[in-house]
Amino acid sequence: MGDDDDDIPQLSSHTLAALQEFYIEQQQREGMKTSEDFNHYSVGSVEEDWQLSQFWYSDETASCLANEAVLAAGKGGRIACVSAPSVYQKLKEQHGKDFSVCILEYDKRFSVYGEEFIFYDYSNPLNLPKNVLPHSFDIVIADPPYLSEECLSKTAETIKYLTKGKVLLCTGAIMEEHAARLLGVKMCKFIPKHTRNLANEFRCYVNYDSGLD
Ligand SMILES: C[S@@+](CC[C@H](N)C(=O)[O-])C[C@H]1O[C@@H](n2cnc3c(N)ncnc32)[C@H](O)[C@@H]1O
Repeated sequence: MGDDDDDIPQLSSHTLAALQEFYIEQQQREGMKTSEDFNHYSVGSVEEDWQLSQFWYSDETASCLANEAVLAAGKGGRIACVSAPSVYQKLKEQHGKDFSVCILEYDKRFSVYGEEFIFYDYSNPLNLPKNVLPHSFDIVIADPPYLSEECLSKTAETIKYLTKGKVLLCTGAIMEEHAARLLGVKMCKFIPKHTRNLANEFRCYVNYDSGLD
């Protein structure tokens, strides 16, 4: 019988060093996630799940939309982010306390945001908690998951239920006519950008005088 150790494959010292470095970096990443310094509101802190049609805005676009929402909502205003979690995150990251905001989302990973998270499935557009009163938000920002008339018309039901009047919609340029008919919104000059290049051209639409033109 030979020595058992002879049968165990050995890693080279170079591979071992690389592996050790990888584990140290991994521990540092995990440590950051649990440390108080980790920014739970940074755009991208929840990774995109393409099965859920998740395509996050670039940081710049999320900031622009968040700034627009704050201006449109006014002092002490209420903002609803419907299927637009990056705008919610940017609002929480950037601004003071002179507004309130809710995130309506299908992806339950966003429930880490506590009471401001409202589970939302566009297929049941008015299936909302009782404490979400009609026409109780100064502005609603929405970015429906699919470029279909069915998805937009159902999301539009939610938007019309929630808003006091102002609507900021982000969706494909091909949805322009449906958006105008369902929500009375017009295409803005501002072009939203995403962290990845998308095949479809995206645009913003509003029904009020916005800073996005
Ligand atoms: C096109 S992405 C819009 C995200 C936006 N660009 C952002 O960065 O915040 C569509 C969003 O719809 C959500 N979603 C997926 N399925 C949904 C459903 N059945 N009902 C409502 N929202 C859904 C996704 O989780 C995702 O946040």
